[in-house]
Amino acid sequence: MRVGVLTGGGDCPGLNAVIRGIVRKGVQEYGYDFTGFRDGWRGPLEGDTVRLDIPAVRGILPRGGTILGSSRTNPLKVEGGVRRVQENLAAEGIDALIAIGGEDTLGVAAALHQEHGVKVVGVPKTIDNDLSATDYTFGFDTAVNIATEAIDRLHTTAESHMRVLVVEVMGRHAGWIALHSGLAGGANVILIPEQRFDLDQVCAWVESRFKIRYAPIVVVAEGAMPKDGDMVLKDGTLDSFGHVRLSGIGEWLANQIEKRTGKEARTTVLGHVQRGGTPSAFDRWLATRFGLHAVEAVRDGDFGKMVALRSTEIVRVPIGDATARIKTVDPSLYEEAGVFFG
Ligand code: F6P
Repeated sequence: MRVGVLTGGGDCPGLNAVIRGIVRKGVQEYGYDFTGFRDGWRGPLEGDTVRLDIPAVRGILPRGGTILGSSRTNPLKVEGGVRRVQENLAAEGIDALIAIGGEDTLGVAAALHQEHGVKVVGVPKTIDNDLSATDYTFGFDTAVNIATEAIDRLHTTAESHMRVLVVEVMGRHAGWIALHSGLAGGANVILIPEQRFDLDQVCAWVESRFKIRYAPIVVVAEGAMPKDGDMVLKDGTLDSFGHVRLSGIGEWLANQIEKRTGKEARTTVLGHVQRGGTPSAFDRWLATRFGLHAVEAVRDGDFGKMVALRSTEIVRVPIGDATARIKTVDPSLYEEAGVFFG
């Protein structure tokens, strides 16, 4: 049995731990051979492979990024893409494929399985934690820890200068990182994409914080939007690689707060720092278990499925369950955090 492995979409701490779990269990327990595909779906599309055996996965558990490389290539959007993927998988002698990725990568996996009979098992990943059907994705815990540490540090500099500090965290469609790091870091305002915010209310919270002689920390997810939408965001613009760019909300917010309250404000955009570097212990644990269970699903011939965390159990769900809709922050969870605002 030869199993192909690929990592697609934005990278995420824990990808290497999944790859190591897959290869260690597959080789040691089932005697499988593995082929790594480079850069997500680009690998099978172009027949670009990399050696994947026990020596190749030695020492990679604590390393961020992915030894296989990643890209957002989508073979469904390439003329003749599906046929080329099928031909290259056949040429490499691939019996089954494990695709590790988010919404887009797994969407391709689901379509290739359902419409073209490709034998795929999915593994969910994203620092945003916005994939349905799994309680958590690996990478999220690491990102929240990085953002929380940044907020802790920003409190002390904000208080020394009695400034407002706005922290922009990742999360285009869901505010999980903002909510968790905001609560863990004791932020005074948390703004998420799921709930449009009222700028007057944000300024009132900021001012009330100054009244008790504390400097406010505002955590804003990159996809958060004001109610009146009177802002100039680079929303929806595509960069030269065709990726959507959403940067700008943190800077815009700090300017508005400064203008309206007369208090000095600064912005910190955490950006890709949240995605890089070594994974947390929780993410290594979750990613490793996902890898072990993915290779078990291959052994069982349970294709078209994705491994998922339910409480402390790893279960298998149809890949489509994860990609059909994103998992957003429930309004009651956001309301619960509201007691700390202002
Ligand atoms: O992985 C998801 C995500 O981290 C989003 O929160 C963010 O908007 C996006 O990736 C940025 O990805 P890139 O810069 O790689 O296009």
